[in-house]
Amino acid sequence: MVQRIKSASILVVDDDLGVRESLKMILMDKYYVSTASNIDEAIDSLKIIEPELIFLDIKISKENGLDFLKQIHSDKSNIPVVMITAFPSSQTAITAFRSGAFDYIIKPFEPSEIYTTVERALQHRIESYEKDKLVYNLRSAVHKNFFSTTESLLLAIDAKDSYTAGHSKRVSLLFGLIMKELGMNEAQIAKLRYGAFLHDIGKIGVRDDILTKTDDLTEEEFFLMKQHPEIGYNILEPINFLKEALPIVRYHHEWYNGKGYPHGLVGEAIPQEVAIFSVIDAYDALTTDRYYRKKYSNQEAFKIITEGIGTQFMPILAEKVLSIIKKCCEIWHLGGSN
Ligand SMILES: [Fe+2]
Repeated sequence: MVQRIKSASILVVDDDLGVRESLKMILMDKYYVSTASNIDEAIDSLKIIEPELIFLDIKISKENGLDFLKQIHSDKSNIPVVMITAFPSSQTAITAFRSGAFDYIIKPFEPSEIYTTVERALQHRIESYEKDKLVYNLRSAVHKNFFSTTESLLLAIDAKDSYTAGHSKRVSLLFGLIMKELGMNEAQIAKLRYGAFLHDIGKIGVRDDILTKTDDLTEEEFFLMKQHPEIGYNILEPINFLKEALPIVRYHHEWYNGKGYPHGLVGEAIPQEVAIFSVIDAYDALTTDRYYRKKYSNQEAFKIITEGIGTQFMPILAEKVLSIIKKCCEIWHLGGSN
């Protein structure tokens, strides 16, 4: 005897044993069919296996099938649900469709009608799965394109200011390692690292002669330089998926004592991830050659940052970050020579 491979699983939820049994008889040759006589049983069944299709009675004893339909769609939005009713009315149909039903059938039903409905519902499920996959792929492509575009922008900044070349990549890498060491979860780190990577993107709006000046900046030049966090924020603000990363871009030059820029935030008003990042940003800047000075050694950089705790950097947090940076330096020989 040839065993037919069943192609999908179907859950029938109805308080009428006759309906449950007749649907089972009609469908069991081609599909796996499980049944539930009330909503609690249906919930238990859904915990064990997610069916490809649900037949759901509109009125199950005293329970309302339409309420359960809404619950199903809030948890498992892509399972098509076919409502079953013995009392058809246009209002019932409208309510069912508005609640997200795929279709509805009227008792008593013909096997051919059931077959057609099941085929259509399963086809719909495949199509909606394909659509979700397409949307996912498109989103991934947008992310990928976005980052290759912003990377090009950062390369353009590096080209304007060759002494900071590679700074964005280094600080975002170190930021990720330190956040992990501080116990932050991977998903959150991934979002915040965009901020570290893009923190100086606003320099694209600062004049080249200011970025590359070897002497002290004039008051006017420093005023223009101080605009870069806000310019960066304005560039990235419309991009929804960067929302959590924006404070790093906007506030990475704020100081704990309120004497930073552009907003003069004081103390705990500076978000913690920004306070962490500003130590890393300072460490990388200090241990890199600049137009206006040679790089400092690691020990000199640690000393300068330690002296800045309580004025530029947030106490306790900055000490923790610094001790992790020191550990990283020992392992990977980062930064200037000791
Ligand atoms: Fe900056």
